[in-house]
Amino acid sequence: MLNRLFIINGSPRKKGNTSNLIKWVASAAIEKGAHVEIIDAVKLAKENNGCRGCRQCNISEDYTCVIKDDTSLTVARMLKSNVVIFATPVYFGSFPGQLKQFIDRMYCLKKIHQNGFSISPALKDVSIALIAVSGAGEEFGLNFLSSHMRAIFSGLDKDIEELLIPSCPPEIDKIKSNTRIKKKALAFGKMLAEKID
Ligand SMILES: Cc1cc2nc3c(=O)[nH]c(=O)nc-3n(C[C@H](O)[C@H](O)[C@H](O)COP(=O)(O)O)c2cc1C
Repeated sequence: MLNRLFIINGSPRKKGNTSNLIKWVASAAIEKGAHVEIIDAVKLAKENNGCRGCRQCNISEDYTCVIKDDTSLTVARMLKSNVVIFATPVYFGSFPGQLKQFIDRMYCLKKIHQNGFSISPALKDVSIALIAVSGAGEEFGLNFLSSHMRAIFSGLDKDIEELLIPSCPPEIDKIKSNTRIKKKALAFGKMLAEKID
């Protein structure tokens, strides 16, 4: 069966470290026969004013947001894939605001009831992964980002596969000569391509 990978790029630097990691992960996955779609969260954020907190999604029949824009359509398309990968740099111990805006719009995938909660059935067969890169060591933000993502997705009943790259120099394309990181990224892409729960 064809494995569909949906990558959401949260980095504002289009040729930066996150983009290079995405390229390696995607190329290894494509080589294994996966279909890969890459979405630019920063571009989407230009027309995404963020979740309004109206909670209409909580009382609607389905698990969709009442704001009908490209972000809504992207969230719906994302659910048709086998693996959704959030790729991001660490910004002050978390991820860039543009990616946060996208994730907030995923609130419609959960309904809070009086006696608990339910999750969109469309999310049931989707695996979640995180690619994250930081300038400093793990303890200066990468670990916080990882915990934050795990907390978000445990609220949606999901575990996360992770590719975490600390201490990565910020210079454009310097990462390309790092064969150790490249090898890790290729292995991660291959693993995701072979993963269908
Ligand atoms: C606004 C901003 C905040 C950052 N905060 C952190 C941080 O808290 N911890 C860290 O290790 N690196 C931090 N960095 C460094 C980036 O995570 C790092 O340079 C990363 O490789 C950038 O990825 P990119 O090339 O995809 O933009 C920050 C960079 C920026 C621009």
